[in-house]
Amino acid sequence: MKVTVVGAGNVGATVAECVARLDMVKDVVLIDIVEGMPQGKALDMMQAAPIHLYDTRVLGTNDYADTAGSDICVITAGLPRKPGMSRDDLLAKNASIVKSVTEQFVAQSPDAIIIVVSNPLDVMTYVAYMTSGFPSNRVMGMAGILDTARFRAFLAMELGVSVKDIQALLMGGHGDTMVPLPRYTTVAGIPLTELLDEKKINEIVYRTKVGGGEIVKLEGTSAWYAPGAAAAQMVEAIVKDSGRVFPCAVWLNGQYGQEGIFIGAPARLGKNGIEEIIEVDLDKAELEMMNSSAKHVHDNLAALERILNG
Ligand code: NAI
Ligand code: 2OP
Repeated sequence: MKVTVVGAGNVGATVAECVARLDMVKDVVLIDIVEGMPQGKALDMMQAAPIHLYDTRVLGTNDYADTAGSDICVITAGLPRKPGMSRDDLLAKNASIVKSVTEQFVAQSPDAIIIVVSNPLDVMTYVAYMTSGFPSNRVMGMAGILDTARFRAFLAMELGVSVKDIQALLMGGHGDTMVPLPRYTTVAGIPLTELLDEKKINEIVYRTKVGGGEIVKLEGTSAWYAPGAAAAQMVEAIVKDSGRVFPCAVWLNGQYGQEGIFIGAPARLGKNGIEEIIEVDLDKAELEMMNSSAKHVHDNLAALERILNG
C-alpha cells in the first residue's frame, strides 16, 4: 500500500514517521511546496529505518506524479496557529491550500481515502470532500483522536492510572465548542463519574477544550507529536481493516440531527474508510452542546462561502 502525506511540516513529517515506524505499508510519500525539505526529511527517515527496523520506503518530493496510485492521503498542508490566533483565523488561506492540494492529489489517485488534518478541521474536511468529489466514506478529518487523547492524558495524570486503562468519547467540532462526554468515559470499565467529582471533571474537560491553545502559548506554534500520531492511528485502522472505533470528523446525513456538515462523531474505520457512523444516546445537555458545536461549524461554512463569493 501507498500513503501520501501532503505538507511536510511539523505534523506531516510526524505522520510520515509514525506510519513508517508501524512498518505496514510499502511506500510513504511526503510532498510539500518547499523544495528540498521533504526530500531531506524523507532521507533522514530512511536512515532511521535500520535503527527502528522498518522496511517502508519514504520518498520526499515536490511532484504529485510521485503520489500516483496512493491508497490513503493525509492532508496537513496549511498554516498552523500562532499565539493569539484561533483555528478559525486560518480559514481563507487554508481553504485555498486544501482545495489546491486536493485537486492535484485526486488527479493522481482517484480511488484513495483522504484524511484531513489542516485547520479549521471540520471546514477543511468539507473543502476536501467537495473538491475531491469522493463519496463521504472516503473523506474524513482527524481531531477526535487527538482531543480524546488529551482528555485521557489529563485524566491519567489526575488519577495516577495508566493511560491504557482510560477509554473516552468526545464529539463535536475541533475547537473550543468540542463536546467531551464524561458519561461515556471509563477507567478499566469504571465510570469516570464514580472516580472524580463534578468540579474536577469540569476542570479537566475545560483543559481539554483549550488543550491546543495551551501548547500554542508554550511553543509559539501548534502541537505535532500527538496530532501526527493520531492521524497515523487512523491510517493504521484503514490499512489493517481493523474496525477500530474512533471519533472522526465525518459527513453527517441526519445522524445526531445534523445534516450537510463534517463534525466529530464515533466511527468504525476499515478498508473502505468510514465503515459506520455510530449513534449513541445523548442527554438534553449533551445534545445542546452538540447543536451549539454544529452551529459553530455551520457559521464557519457560511464565512467560507462569503470568502469564496467575494
Ligand atoms: P507547518 O507550518 O509545520 O507545516 C505546514 C506545511 O504545509 C509547510 O511545510 C508548508 O510548506 C506546507 N504547505 C503549505 N502550502 C502547501 C501546498 N500548497 N502544498 C503542499 N504543502 C504546503 O504546520 P503544522 O504544525 O504541520 O500544521 C499543519 C496544519 O495542521 C495546520 O493547519 C494546523 O492548524 C493543523 N493542525 C491540525 C490539528 C488537528 O487536530 N486537526 C492538530 C495540529 C495541527
Ligand atoms: C491542536 O488542537 C491546533 O488543532 C491544533 O493542537
